[in-house]
Amino acid sequence: MFAQRLAGVSASATLKVAAEAERLRRAGVNVVDFSAGEPDFPTPDHVKAAAKAAIDANFTRYTVAAGIPELRDAIAARYKRDYGIEVATNEVLLTNGGKQALLNAALALVDPGDEVITHSPYWPTIPEQVKLVGGTPVIVPTSPKDGFTIHADGIVKAITPKTKAIIINSPCNPTGALIEEDALRQIVAAAKPKGIWIIVDLCYEQLIYEKAAHNLPKVLFDEHRDRTVLCGSASKAYAMTGWRCGWTIAPKELTSAFNTIQGQSTSNIASITQKAALAAVSGPQDAVTAMLNEYRERRDNIHKWLTANPGIKCVKPKGAFYLFPDVTDLLGGSVKNSTEFAAGLLEKEHVVVTPGEAFDAPGYLRISYATSMEQLREGATRIQRFAESLQPARA
Ligand SMILES: Cc1ncc(COP(=O)(O)O)c(C=O)c1O
Repeated sequence: MFAQRLAGVSASATLKVAAEAERLRRAGVNVVDFSAGEPDFPTPDHVKAAAKAAIDANFTRYTVAAGIPELRDAIAARYKRDYGIEVATNEVLLTNGGKQALLNAALALVDPGDEVITHSPYWPTIPEQVKLVGGTPVIVPTSPKDGFTIHADGIVKAITPKTKAIIINSPCNPTGALIEEDALRQIVAAAKPKGIWIIVDLCYEQLIYEKAAHNLPKVLFDEHRDRTVLCGSASKAYAMTGWRCGWTIAPKELTSAFNTIQGQSTSNIASITQKAALAAVSGPQDAVTAMLNEYRERRDNIHKWLTANPGIKCVKPKGAFYLFPDVTDLLGGSVKNSTEFAAGLLEKEHVVVTPGEAFDAPGYLRISYATSMEQLREGATRIQRFAESLQPARA
């Protein structure tokens, strides 16, 4: 009945878990929700003020599909300041969140039968979008042994004559892992002679906790500029998930293709959002630093509280705002897998977590620490109580 392109494409598991949490909350249950893929902080005041001013100035009409040049210039200026790369206005296009940035890239680059390499555990939208446009995702696993670091060798080995693109997500959702600049250089060296595109999802680029060499844009601009797509977002860094503002930075010919796609589908992102994002990107950045500092403290605490249980193993994530504990030692008895663990935890303790199966990582749970310290403390206590109630696997 439906178009063939939907065959094999799954609905968003993370959104499903969030919807279940909302249902319980509305029913009056005292839920501790660790499923949120979004900051719990409000959008900074100066950003909200810019949006209000835009409404009062009647900045409420269509803009050009790619977005207002002031904002595209401000994004280019930010990438110059942060990464030392030169980006022209016609290489930036504004999208409805980082999600549409990635979708535009998939639509413009991937034909049916093309392979697109990415790493797991992954944010499910990445492979699902590839499937939606008829491509084949090729998944290269990363290992908990080194904190799920994204290495070059597995990705390079996965290249075939059908490879059209490689998608790297760093910092990674759900693991918080980063790719090192040198690993990206090695991937570029293998991709370049074959004309393979490298798409980097930088949605969490401003959420890195300890100093790390992570100038991925510079590596790509120096060595692979004509086959690079950078996908960014205002959602996480500026607590603007609902505003829907992301962007692509790509060669002007590809940006022009994105413009065609968007011009025939969604057109511009909301005009008011554009003015808000302009204030976010070009205004004071103290709110970003304050949120980062708070996330760091939360990460350290929830990590300590959960790993007090020897059955819960967990590397400390380097970026994003998720903990990704391994609970396999607690499975095999009264709960068989991490999906059953998450379901039992929800039923008995009303704690919402996303099971690792959603990210191609059975045996794990994703815990978002984009929530208050009190909720983290309470949730950790409930998780420990649930873990202790489990019957061990029979020897
Ligand atoms: C890895 C990753 N990329 C991109 C996005 C897109 O977010 P948005 O569309 O709100 O910018 C998300 C959101 O959860 C994400 O986790």
